[in-house]
Amino acid sequence: MKCAIPMIIQNSLFLVQYSILDLLCSMKIDILSVVPNLLDSPFSHSILKRARDKGLLEVNVINLRDHTTYARAQVDDYAFGGGAGMVMMIEPLVNAIEALQKGTDYDEIIFLTPDGETFNQKMANQLSLKSNLLLICGHYKGIDQRVREHFITKEISIGDYVLSGGELGAAVLVDAIGRLIPGVLNDETSALTDSFQDNLLAPPVYTRPEEFRGWKVPDILLSGNHKLIEEWRHEQSVKRTEERRPDLLD
Ligand code: ADE
Repeated sequence: MKCAIPMIIQNSLFLVQYSILDLLCSMKIDILSVVPNLLDSPFSHSILKRARDKGLLEVNVINLRDHTTYARAQVDDYAFGGGAGMVMMIEPLVNAIEALQKGTDYDEIIFLTPDGETFNQKMANQLSLKSNLLLICGHYKGIDQRVREHFITKEISIGDYVLSGGELGAAVLVDAIGRLIPGVLNDETSALTDSFQDNLLAPPVYTRPEEFRGWKVPDILLSGNHKLIEEWRHEQSVKRTEERRPDLLD
């Protein structure tokens, strides 16, 4: 059995085939959260469910409150210096991270935060090559800065807006990364034709019927000429990118 390994060359994703005996392609993602129930569903359906069922992806959600020594499972406190909002305390976070590190050598410990680096396809490609990731979900006004300085290896935002916590951001990362793990998608080349893989948006797609209310599928797609179809798709990708995301072409 062959296993396709993603490789990034000049920011583009390529798949290189190796024997499954040479490399076991699987990834573990641990997520540390104060509201673990928020993540009950996102990994239990569709492509990510298949990835987990096939043993290609393991996702564990860990409750931060299981690692606090404070009364009533407290994990946050008032900010030194005053101001509105609570801050996640250093001790429960460090207890949890160090307990998890006893069992796993993480490639990256990622903090989801609106002031992190904005997530994009290139980052998803790079992270899909890792074996073990720990995602830390922030809440309230954030986490004690000392955790960021001493434990976090990457800080990621999923966009310029503020969510009520990092959980939905973590779900976005797991989805974008998990589908790139070799063997997860049915047709392994399909990730290669995704929008952004070549810094281009994907071209328009059509399926049956060929005509609906007089609206026809472009003739070229019915021609059977694969070379011309690929050329048309590329032209459409460029046109769509110029119209919608000219910044990607810079
Ligand atoms: N937590 C709150 N807002 C966030 C964002 N935009 N990205 C990642 N984590 C967040």
